[in-house]
Amino acid sequence: MSASRARLGVLVSGSGSNLQALLDACARPDYPAEVACVVSNVATAYALERARAAGVPAVVVDHKAHASKVDFEQALLGALREARVEWICLAGFMRLLSADFLGRFPGRVLNIHPSLLPSFPGLHAQRQALERGVKVAGCTVHFVDAGTDTGPIIGQAAVPVLPDDDEKSLGARILVEEHRLYPLAVRLAVTGQVSLEGARTRVAARATTDALALRSPGAME
Ligand code: GRF
Repeated sequence: MSASRARLGVLVSGSGSNLQALLDACARPDYPAEVACVVSNVATAYALERARAAGVPAVVVDHKAHASKVDFEQALLGALREARVEWICLAGFMRLLSADFLGRFPGRVLNIHPSLLPSFPGLHAQRQALERGVKVAGCTVHFVDAGTDTGPIIGQAAVPVLPDDDEKSLGARILVEEHRLYPLAVRLAVTGQVSLEGARTRVAARATTDALALRSPGAME
């Protein structure tokens, strides 16, 4: 099936545990996507090690080395084009992409965020959740638009907030769900089982049933 697998470009800035979840999913012969390249704006990001360990091209495009955002995004586009990327997955990528850049990949840029959007967009989502005192937190995979974590939602997963939680413990509980949800959402997107309808998405009934039926981590992607 490799000829028809969707080519993903994964953009990272940090640890890359979500990248790892995508790499692991892509290692399965029946997964409909492959990671064509990983691009980091931070040269020291551990995610780059993960890419190299998986034999995937790992490229650094440092925003600080470019005079303007336009220049930075041009360099980013160059790296993605060279790897013939068709879909972009943001996985802890700490730069906002312009509408111009997003227009090069219409409806093909996904992001994962550690909150149940539209609650707690932006930085420190877990801290925001704890400060607000919510009892349920979680993560969201969504299509990216020019806003901050505002694009149409593909999927969400919830976790409890426990009385003694701090940012670290809550973040770790959310990450377990992130690693399950992101490969599933990418599968739905690249196979056309989720489609854009204005500000919302529609997920095919069969995909929804499967996702609800298969709860165990790793079984869903
Ligand atoms: C995740 O919590 C993700 O939701 C957010 O940034 C974090 C990245 O973690 N966008 P990692 O680099 O994938 O481990």
